[in-house]
Amino acid sequence: MSYQYIAVATPELQRCALAEMSAVAPGLHWLANLEQGTFLVETAQKEDVFLPALARAEPVFVKHIMPAQRRVPLARRKVDDLPILLRVAQDLGAVRAGDHFTVQCRRVGKGFDYTAKDVEVLVGMALEACGATPVFCDTDLRPLRGQSPTIDQYPDSELILEDWHKVVFYYLLGDTAYAGASTIVLSLNEHCDENRVFARRSRDVCRSEFKLLEALRRFKVDLAPGRALDLGAAPGGWAKVLADRGLHVTAVDPATLDLKAADLPNVIHIRQRAEEFAPTGVYDLLVNDMVLPADRSAAIMLHTAPHLKYGASAIMTIKLGYHTPCDTLQQTLATLGSAFEVVHAKCLFHNRQEATVMLRRARPEPEL
Ligand SMILES: C[S@@+](CC[C@H](N)C(=O)[O-])C[C@H]1O[C@@H](n2cnc3c(N)ncnc32)[C@H](O)[C@@H]1O
Repeated sequence: MSYQYIAVATPELQRCALAEMSAVAPGLHWLANLEQGTFLVETAQKEDVFLPALARAEPVFVKHIMPAQRRVPLARRKVDDLPILLRVAQDLGAVRAGDHFTVQCRRVGKGFDYTAKDVEVLVGMALEACGATPVFCDTDLRPLRGQSPTIDQYPDSELILEDWHKVVFYYLLGDTAYAGASTIVLSLNEHCDENRVFARRSRDVCRSEFKLLEALRRFKVDLAPGRALDLGAAPGGWAKVLADRGLHVTAVDPATLDLKAADLPNVIHIRQRAEEFAPTGVYDLLVNDMVLPADRSAAIMLHTAPHLKYGASAIMTIKLGYHTPCDTLQQTLATLGSAFEVVHAKCLFHNRQEATVMLRRARPEPEL
Protein backbone atom coordinates (compact mmCIF):
# COMPACT_ATOMS: atom_id res chain seq x y z
CA MET A 1 0.00 0.00 0.00
CA SER A 2 1.31 3.49 -0.77
CA TYR A 3 0.18 6.96 0.22
CA GLN A 4 0.58 10.22 -1.62
CA TYR A 5 1.21 13.69 -0.26
CA ILE A 6 1.40 17.14 -1.81
CA ALA A 7 4.42 19.04 -0.49
CA VAL A 8 5.39 22.69 -0.94
CA ALA A 9 8.97 24.00 -0.89
CA THR A 10 10.96 26.77 -2.55
CA PRO A 11 11.57 25.26 -6.04
CA GLU A 12 15.37 25.55 -5.79
CA LEU A 13 15.29 23.88 -2.36
CA GLN A 14 12.98 21.01 -3.31
CA ARG A 15 15.82 18.50 -3.02
CA CYS A 16 16.49 19.55 0.56
CA ALA A 17 12.77 19.16 1.33
CA LEU A 18 12.76 15.68 -0.21
CA ALA A 19 15.79 14.74 1.90
CA GLU A 20 13.98 15.90 5.06
CA MET A 21 10.92 13.79 4.21
CA SER A 22 13.02 10.75 3.27
CA ALA A 23 14.82 10.96 6.60
CA VAL A 24 11.44 10.50 8.27
CA ALA A 25 10.06 7.97 5.77
CA PRO A 26 12.88 5.97 4.14
CA GLY A 27 11.89 5.00 0.60
CA LEU A 28 9.73 8.09 0.11
CA HIS A 29 10.05 9.24 -3.49
CA TRP A 30 9.11 12.11 -5.76
CA LEU A 31 6.24 11.35 -8.17
CA ALA A 32 5.50 14.56 -10.08
CA ASN A 33 5.78 18.32 -10.03
CA LEU A 34 2.32 19.89 -9.88
CA GLU A 35 3.37 23.53 -10.13
CA GLN A 36 6.58 25.39 -9.31
CA GLY A 37 7.52 24.38 -5.78
CA THR A 38 4.53 22.05 -5.30
CA PHE A 39 5.12 18.36 -5.85
CA LEU A 40 3.63 14.96 -5.24
CA VAL A 41 5.51 12.35 -3.22
CA GLU A 42 4.71 8.76 -2.34
CA THR A 43 5.60 6.64 0.66
CA ALA A 44 4.47 3.47 2.36
CA GLN A 45 3.73 5.48 5.50
CA LYS A 46 0.10 6.31 6.18
CA GLU A 47 -0.94 9.82 7.31
CA ASP A 48 -1.22 8.94 10.99
CA VAL A 49 2.42 7.78 11.02
CA PHE A 50 4.15 10.02 8.49
CA LEU A 51 2.61 13.42 9.28
CA PRO A 52 3.21 13.34 13.08
CA ALA A 53 6.76 12.09 12.54
CA LEU A 54 7.45 14.84 10.01
CA ALA A 55 5.99 17.51 12.29
CA ARG A 56 8.15 16.24 15.19
CA ALA A 57 11.25 16.47 12.98
CA GLU A 58 10.51 20.22 12.47
CA PRO A 59 11.61 20.31 8.82
CA VAL A 60 13.17 23.54 7.64
CA PHE A 61 12.57 23.18 3.91
CA VAL A 62 9.11 21.54 3.73
CA LYS A 63 6.77 24.50 3.91
CA HIS A 64 3.47 22.69 3.74
CA ILE A 65 2.26 19.11 3.43
CA MET A 66 -1.17 17.78 2.55
CA PRO A 67 -2.25 14.16 2.35
CA ALA A 68 -3.63 13.53 -1.16
CA GLN A 69 -6.27 11.06 0.00
CA ARG A 70 -8.66 11.56 -2.90
CA ARG A 71 -8.18 12.42 -6.55
CA VAL A 72 -11.19 13.31 -8.70
CA PRO A 73 -11.55 14.62 -12.28
CA LEU A 74 -12.79 18.19 -12.76
CA ALA A 75 -14.91 19.73 -15.51
CA ARG A 76 -14.00 23.21 -14.18
CA ARG A 77 -17.69 24.05 -14.18
CA LYS A 78 -19.36 24.95 -10.89
CA VAL A 79 -22.47 22.94 -11.62
CA ASP A 80 -20.47 19.74 -12.19
CA ASP A 81 -17.57 20.08 -9.77
CA LEU A 82 -18.93 21.61 -6.57
CA PRO A 83 -21.28 18.72 -5.71
CA ILE A 84 -18.42 16.27 -6.26
CA LEU A 85 -16.00 18.29 -4.12
CA LEU A 86 -18.60 18.49 -1.38
CA ARG A 87 -19.12 14.73 -1.48
CA VAL A 88 -15.36 14.25 -1.18
CA ALA A 89 -15.34 16.18 2.12
CA GLN A 90 -18.27 14.17 3.43
CA ASP A 91 -16.66 10.95 2.30
CA LEU A 92 -13.36 11.83 4.02
CA GLY A 93 -15.37 12.06 7.23
CA ALA A 94 -12.53 13.86 8.98
CA VAL A 95 -14.59 16.70 10.44
CA ARG A 96 -17.21 15.67 12.96
CA ALA A 97 -19.80 17.52 15.02
CA GLY A 98 -17.99 19.48 17.73
CA ASP A 99 -14.73 19.78 15.76
CA HIS A 100 -13.18 23.12 14.86
CA PHE A 101 -12.17 23.19 11.23
CA THR A 102 -11.05 25.27 8.27
CA VAL A 103 -11.39 24.55 4.57
CA GLN A 104 -8.43 25.53 2.38
CA CYS A 105 -8.52 25.46 -1.37
CA ARG A 106 -5.85 26.35 -3.87
CA ARG A 107 -6.90 26.59 -7.50
CA VAL A 108 -4.28 26.48 -10.23
CA GLY A 109 -4.93 26.83 -13.97
CA LYS A 110 -7.39 28.58 -16.22
CA GLY A 111 -10.93 27.99 -17.39
CA PHE A 112 -12.67 27.53 -14.01
CA ASP A 113 -16.04 29.27 -13.63
CA TYR A 114 -15.69 29.18 -9.83
CA THR A 115 -13.09 30.34 -7.32
CA ALA A 116 -11.16 28.61 -4.55
CA LYS A 117 -13.29 30.66 -2.16
CA ASP A 118 -16.48 29.20 -3.65
CA VAL A 119 -15.25 25.73 -2.67
CA GLU A 120 -14.22 26.85 0.81
CA VAL A 121 -17.56 28.52 1.44
CA LEU A 122 -19.69 25.66 0.13
CA VAL A 123 -17.82 22.93 2.02
CA GLY A 124 -17.42 25.09 5.12
CA MET A 125 -21.12 25.79 5.36
CA ALA A 126 -22.01 22.13 4.84
CA LEU A 127 -19.65 20.99 7.59
CA GLU A 128 -20.94 23.73 9.86
CA ALA A 129 -24.50 22.56 9.23
CA CYS A 130 -23.40 19.15 10.56
CA GLY A 131 -22.39 20.69 13.91
CA ALA A 132 -18.70 21.56 13.40
CA THR A 133 -17.34 25.06 14.06
CA PRO A 134 -15.54 26.88 11.24
CA VAL A 135 -12.41 28.84 12.16
CA PHE A 136 -10.46 30.91 9.72
CA CYS A 137 -7.34 32.96 9.50
CA ASP A 138 -8.81 34.98 6.68
CA THR A 139 -12.22 36.37 5.93
CA ASP A 140 -13.83 33.28 4.40
CA LEU A 141 -17.32 32.72 5.72
CA ARG A 142 -17.61 35.74 7.97
CA PRO A 143 -18.86 38.28 5.42
CA LEU A 144 -21.53 35.84 4.32
CA ARG A 145 -22.88 35.72 7.81
CA GLY A 146 -22.82 39.48 8.22
CA GLN A 147 -19.78 39.33 10.53
CA SER A 148 -17.44 42.00 9.45
CA PRO A 149 -13.81 41.72 10.65
CA THR A 150 -11.35 41.33 7.82
CA ILE A 151 -7.78 40.08 8.00
CA ASP A 152 -6.55 43.66 8.26
CA GLN A 153 -8.52 44.07 11.44
CA TYR A 154 -6.99 41.04 13.12
CA PRO A 155 -3.73 41.94 14.83
CA ASP A 156 -1.03 39.41 13.86
CA SER A 157 -1.02 37.93 17.32
CA GLU A 158 -4.73 37.22 17.40
CA LEU A 159 -5.19 34.65 14.68
CA ILE A 160 -7.91 32.25 15.54
CA LEU A 161 -6.44 29.05 14.16
CA GLU A 162 -5.04 26.57 16.69
CA ASP A 163 -2.66 23.69 16.07
CA TRP A 164 -5.34 21.09 16.72
CA HIS A 165 -7.94 22.54 14.34
CA LYS A 166 -8.86 20.24 11.47
CA VAL A 167 -8.16 21.23 7.89
CA VAL A 168 -9.87 19.99 4.75
CA PHE A 169 -7.64 20.70 1.74
CA TYR A 170 -8.43 20.98 -1.92
CA TYR A 171 -5.78 21.43 -4.53
CA LEU A 172 -7.41 22.01 -7.91
CA LEU A 173 -4.97 21.65 -10.78
CA GLY A 174 -6.43 21.88 -14.28
CA ASP A 175 -8.72 18.91 -14.67
CA THR A 176 -7.77 17.13 -11.44
CA ALA A 177 -8.66 17.81 -7.81
CA TYR A 178 -6.62 16.41 -4.92
CA ALA A 179 -8.21 16.47 -1.51
CA GLY A 180 -7.39 15.35 1.99
CA ALA A 181 -7.76 16.18 5.65
CA SER A 182 -5.27 16.88 8.39
CA THR A 183 -4.73 19.35 11.23
CA ILE A 184 -3.00 22.73 11.29
CA VAL A 185 0.03 21.41 13.18
CA LEU A 186 0.47 18.37 10.93
CA SER A 187 0.22 20.40 7.75
CA LEU A 188 3.17 22.52 9.00
CA ASN A 189 1.53 25.82 8.12
CA GLU A 190 -1.69 27.64 8.70
CA HIS A 191 -2.76 27.98 5.10
CA CYS A 192 -1.98 26.06 1.93
CA ASP A 193 -1.72 29.41 0.15
CA GLU A 194 -0.17 31.76 2.70
CA ASN A 195 0.54 34.30 -0.03
CA ARG A 196 -3.18 34.64 -0.50
CA VAL A 197 -3.64 35.42 3.19
CA PHE A 198 -0.92 38.06 3.23
CA ALA A 199 -1.88 39.45 -0.18
CA ARG A 200 -5.05 40.84 1.39
CA ARG A 201 -3.00 43.10 3.59
CA SER A 202 -1.60 46.14 1.85
CA ARG A 203 2.12 46.60 2.30
CA ASP A 204 3.63 49.85 3.46
CA VAL A 205 7.14 49.83 2.05
CA CYS A 206 8.08 46.55 0.34
CA ARG A 207 7.31 42.82 0.13
CA SER A 208 10.02 42.05 2.72
CA GLU A 209 7.54 43.18 5.36
CA PHE A 210 5.63 39.95 4.83
CA LYS A 211 8.74 37.94 5.74
CA LEU A 212 8.98 39.64 9.12
CA LEU A 213 5.23 39.55 9.74
CA GLU A 214 5.17 35.84 8.94
CA ALA A 215 8.19 35.17 11.18
CA LEU A 216 6.69 37.11 14.11
CA ARG A 217 3.45 35.22 13.79
CA ARG A 218 4.96 31.84 13.08
CA PHE A 219 7.58 31.98 15.82
CA LYS A 220 5.13 33.62 18.25
CA VAL A 221 7.54 36.49 18.99
CA ASP A 222 6.28 38.88 21.63
CA LEU A 223 7.44 42.37 20.78
CA ALA A 224 7.89 44.38 23.96
CA PRO A 225 8.74 48.08 23.70
CA GLY A 226 12.47 48.71 23.64
CA ARG A 227 15.40 49.18 21.26
CA ALA A 228 15.70 47.20 18.03
CA LEU A 229 18.75 47.00 15.80
CA ASP A 230 17.87 46.35 12.15
CA LEU A 231 20.86 45.32 10.00
CA GLY A 232 20.33 45.60 6.25
CA ALA A 233 17.28 47.76 6.84
CA ALA A 234 16.69 49.44 3.46
CA PRO A 235 14.20 50.22 2.05
CA GLY A 236 12.71 50.04 5.54
CA GLY A 237 9.90 47.49 5.54
CA TRP A 238 11.06 45.69 8.69
CA ALA A 239 12.00 48.96 10.38
CA LYS A 240 8.49 50.29 9.82
CA VAL A 241 6.86 47.07 11.07
CA LEU A 242 8.91 47.29 14.29
CA ALA A 243 8.51 51.06 14.70
CA ASP A 244 4.73 50.71 14.25
CA ARG A 245 4.80 48.30 17.19
CA GLY A 246 6.44 50.89 19.39
CA LEU A 247 10.09 49.86 19.17
CA HIS A 248 12.87 52.41 18.75
CA VAL A 249 14.67 51.19 15.66
CA THR A 250 18.29 51.78 14.68
CA ALA A 251 18.24 50.99 10.96
CA VAL A 252 21.71 50.24 9.55
CA ASP A 253 22.14 50.18 5.78
CA PRO A 254 24.22 52.17 3.30
CA ALA A 255 21.17 52.33 1.01
CA THR A 256 18.30 54.82 1.19
CA LEU A 257 15.30 54.31 3.47
CA ASP A 258 11.82 54.92 2.16
CA LEU A 259 10.39 58.07 3.72
CA LYS A 260 7.54 56.05 5.24
CA ALA A 261 10.18 54.50 7.52
CA ALA A 262 12.82 57.27 7.57
CA ASP A 263 10.36 59.95 8.69
CA LEU A 264 9.14 58.01 11.73
CA PRO A 265 10.28 59.63 14.98
CA ASN A 266 11.34 56.26 16.41
CA VAL A 267 13.56 55.26 13.45
CA ILE A 268 17.19 56.37 13.19
CA HIS A 269 18.96 55.60 9.93
CA ILE A 270 22.70 54.94 10.12
CA ARG A 271 24.04 55.01 6.55
CA GLN A 272 26.82 52.50 7.08
CA ARG A 273 27.66 48.92 6.37
CA ALA A 274 26.99 46.70 9.37
CA GLU A 275 30.70 45.80 9.52
CA GLU A 276 31.55 49.47 10.16
CA PHE A 277 28.73 50.20 12.60
CA ALA A 278 29.72 50.44 16.27
CA PRO A 279 26.62 49.79 18.42
CA THR A 280 26.21 51.70 21.66
CA GLY A 281 24.27 50.41 24.65
CA VAL A 282 22.18 47.27 24.56
CA TYR A 283 19.29 46.26 22.32
CA ASP A 284 16.13 44.29 23.08
CA LEU A 285 15.79 42.88 19.58
CA LEU A 286 18.19 42.24 16.70
CA VAL A 287 16.98 41.66 13.14
CA ASN A 288 19.12 41.02 10.11
CA ASP A 289 17.93 40.74 6.50
CA MET A 290 21.25 41.68 4.86
CA VAL A 291 21.89 40.29 1.41
CA LEU A 292 25.27 38.84 2.30
CA PRO A 293 26.80 35.36 2.10
CA ALA A 294 25.64 33.38 5.12
CA ASP A 295 29.08 33.11 6.75
CA ARG A 296 29.68 36.89 6.60
CA SER A 297 26.21 37.63 7.90
CA ALA A 298 26.67 35.15 10.77
CA ALA A 299 30.05 36.70 11.65
CA ILE A 300 28.35 40.10 11.99
CA MET A 301 25.69 38.51 14.22
CA LEU A 302 28.40 37.15 16.54
CA HIS A 303 30.17 40.50 16.62
CA THR A 304 26.86 42.24 17.48
CA ALA A 305 25.66 39.66 20.03
CA PRO A 306 27.32 41.33 23.07
CA HIS A 307 25.06 44.35 22.44
CA LEU A 308 21.88 42.27 22.70
CA LYS A 309 20.34 41.61 26.13
CA TYR A 310 20.64 38.05 27.44
CA GLY A 311 17.51 36.13 26.53
CA ALA A 312 16.51 38.70 23.87
CA SER A 313 15.39 37.52 20.43
CA ALA A 314 17.11 37.87 17.10
CA ILE A 315 15.52 37.19 13.73
CA MET A 316 17.75 36.65 10.74
CA THR A 317 17.37 35.55 7.14
CA ILE A 318 20.13 33.18 6.04
CA LYS A 319 20.87 33.42 2.32
CA LEU A 320 21.34 29.81 1.23
CA GLY A 321 22.76 30.20 -2.28
CA TYR A 322 22.39 27.59 -5.02
CA HIS A 323 25.24 25.16 -4.50
CA THR A 324 24.94 23.50 -1.11
CA PRO A 325 21.93 25.07 0.63
CA CYS A 326 21.48 22.30 3.24
CA ASP A 327 25.17 22.45 4.24
CA THR A 328 25.16 26.25 4.27
CA LEU A 329 22.23 26.22 6.66
CA GLN A 330 23.80 23.65 8.99
CA GLN A 331 27.18 25.43 9.05
CA THR A 332 25.58 28.81 9.69
CA LEU A 333 23.43 27.46 12.53
CA ALA A 334 26.54 25.89 14.07
CA THR A 335 28.40 29.23 13.85
CA LEU A 336 25.48 31.15 15.38
CA GLY A 337 25.31 28.54 18.17
CA SER A 338 28.38 30.00 19.86
CA ALA A 339 26.44 33.13 20.89
CA PHE A 340 22.79 32.25 20.38
CA GLU A 341 20.34 29.49 21.09
CA VAL A 342 18.69 28.51 17.79
CA VAL A 343 14.97 28.47 18.61
CA HIS A 344 13.48 27.99 15.13
CA ALA A 345 14.75 27.68 11.57
CA LYS A 346 12.26 27.61 8.72
CA CYS A 347 11.86 28.45 5.06
CA LEU A 348 8.74 30.54 5.43
CA PHE A 349 6.23 31.03 2.65
CA HIS A 350 7.71 34.43 1.92
CA ASN A 351 11.30 33.17 1.82
CA ARG A 352 12.77 32.24 -1.53
CA GLN A 353 16.42 31.19 -1.54
CA GLU A 354 16.74 31.73 2.19
CA ALA A 355 15.59 30.50 5.59
CA THR A 356 14.46 32.60 8.52
CA VAL A 357 15.87 31.77 11.93
CA MET A 358 14.80 32.87 15.35
CA LEU A 359 17.61 33.05 17.87
CA ARG A 360 17.87 33.86 21.53
CA ARG A 361 20.95 35.53 23.00
CA ALA A 362 22.51 32.83 25.15
CA ARG A 363 23.92 33.45 28.61
CA PRO A 364 27.62 32.66 28.92
CA GLU A 365 28.47 29.27 30.44
CA PRO A 366 29.26 29.73 34.17
CA GLU A 367 32.95 29.39 34.86
CA LEU A 368 33.81 26.37 37.00
C1 LIG B 1 16.55 42.41 1.25
S1 LIG B 1 17.12 43.99 1.57
C2 LIG B 1 16.48 44.25 3.18
C3 LIG B 1 15.05 44.59 3.16
C4 LIG B 1 14.58 45.09 4.50
N1 LIG B 1 14.49 44.01 5.47
C5 LIG B 1 13.23 45.76 4.39
O1 LIG B 1 12.27 45.23 4.94
O2 LIG B 1 13.14 46.81 3.78
C6 LIG B 1 18.80 43.73 1.87
C7 LIG B 1 19.57 44.96 2.31
O3 LIG B 1 20.83 44.52 2.81
C8 LIG B 1 21.70 45.61 2.65
N2 LIG B 1 23.09 45.18 2.88
C9 LIG B 1 23.84 44.34 2.15
N3 LIG B 1 25.07 44.24 2.69
C10 LIG B 1 25.07 45.01 3.81
C11 LIG B 1 26.04 45.30 4.81
N4 LIG B 1 27.25 44.78 4.76
N5 LIG B 1 25.67 46.13 5.82
C12 LIG B 1 24.43 46.67 5.86
N6 LIG B 1 23.49 46.43 4.94
C13 LIG B 1 23.80 45.62 3.92
C14 LIG B 1 21.41 46.11 1.24
O4 LIG B 1 21.84 47.44 1.07
C15 LIG B 1 19.89 45.94 1.18
O5 LIG B 1 19.26 47.18 1.43
